[in-house]
Amino acid sequence: MKVMIVGGGGREHAITWAVAKSPKVDKIYAAPGNAGIAEYAECVDISVMDAEKLLSFAKEKEVDFVIVAPDDPLAAGVADVFLDAGIRTFGPRKNAAIIEASKAFSKDLMKKYNIPSAAYETFDDADAALAYLETAPMPIVLKADGLALGKGVLICNTLEEAKAGVKEIMQDKKFGSAGNRMVVEEFMTGREVSVLCYSDGKTIKPMTSAQDHKRAGDNDTGLNTGGMGTFSPSPFYTDEIADFCMKNIYQPTIDAMKAEGREFKGVLFCGLMLTPNGPKVLEYNARFGDPEAQVVIPRMKNDIIDVMEACVDGTLDQIDLQFEDNAAVCVMLASDGYPVAYEKGFPISGLDSFKDKDGYFAFHSGTKLKDGQVVTNGGRVIGITALGADLLTARANAYAATEWVNFDNKYMRHDIGKAIDEQ
Ligand code: AMP
Ligand code: GLY
Repeated sequence: MKVMIVGGGGREHAITWAVAKSPKVDKIYAAPGNAGIAEYAECVDISVMDAEKLLSFAKEKEVDFVIVAPDDPLAAGVADVFLDAGIRTFGPRKNAAIIEASKAFSKDLMKKYNIPSAAYETFDDADAALAYLETAPMPIVLKADGLALGKGVLICNTLEEAKAGVKEIMQDKKFGSAGNRMVVEEFMTGREVSVLCYSDGKTIKPMTSAQDHKRAGDNDTGLNTGGMGTFSPSPFYTDEIADFCMKNIYQPTIDAMKAEGREFKGVLFCGLMLTPNGPKVLEYNARFGDPEAQVVIPRMKNDIIDVMEACVDGTLDQIDLQFEDNAAVCVMLASDGYPVAYEKGFPISGLDSFKDKDGYFAFHSGTKLKDGQVVTNGGRVIGITALGADLLTARANAYAATEWVNFDNKYMRHDIGKAIDEQ
């Protein structure tokens, strides 16, 4: 079959690598793809948001199966455009992707269906938010309602910080129209775990757990980023917690979406906090995480196309989802200055070192080919993933492999997986 992948980052590279392994697949297209994805796929320079062009390309090439991976096109209804044209497509429709695209929607859903999460209030009006904050307990969390590249969340320790936060989100519109509404949420404490789940709208199957590192600097300092590294599995996500989450979070969420007439097919990403009062939902995403995909997908035993087809066809109950009994760590190589300002266009060396090495991956996030040479083309450049028998081995392998790759202004965190030492 012919498969088209919409997206062009490290997550899409990991997905493409898995799709390329499927014996069912003869041809892969990627829009827009990147220099790493180009190893397996024919890349076509169409924006992930240009639904019309994507559809006419898919029709022209007689694509059988489409995977829409990033949040923006899912929120904008790009999966709907393919589905309505009769092309089998993995990824939720717009009316279900709202679970990520509006925090107010997801908070209301959790409240209505008793899914554990932080207490909250929603505001459309800055004055009302400011009045509420005067008597609210600190610290408190402010969240822009809409999509903000994972950056629209402010944790405020004092009333002054909270007031400045309201100004940033609702008045100065630092996150654009995402800040027209704002959720004010109770501050929770605990370990964070990401659990990505496949769903066909009725059945939900959790994948192995992972943990992201969102801040730019070592020891969780600096600005929030798209993700500087991940490890999988989380040693803190016990079988008991997994059972609790299945019963109280994953299945109830899928049932709630169905009851609301918003059947969710695709990957439901549950960002959880393991609080002293049990696991609670921090956020939902309507897609694979990036760089969670880079540690979860290489550990999956199943043919990814079998699983994705089952999600589309409503037969996920027949899939025995299995992961290797090993571990993976991904360390993101970024451009110094990310997430604020950074230079691009530097040649990248050392990528050939990964060619013949099992268990090591260089998943391209922001790269492109320039005159036959792979060059940096983004803030996050390459996610170095390594497998290992356990987390300690995987981490040592990943950090060793970060030395193989070089480019000007290379930057990385040196403490990815530090929680492994605290288990
Ligand atoms: P989100 O995009 O909603 O996952 O938020 C980004 C990050 O902010 C999370 O990964 C947490 O580290 C933090 N965060 C979000 N909500 C809360 C909360 N209610 N209490 C404490 N930390 C939070
Ligand atoms: N790594 C977090 C995300 O993909 O949203």
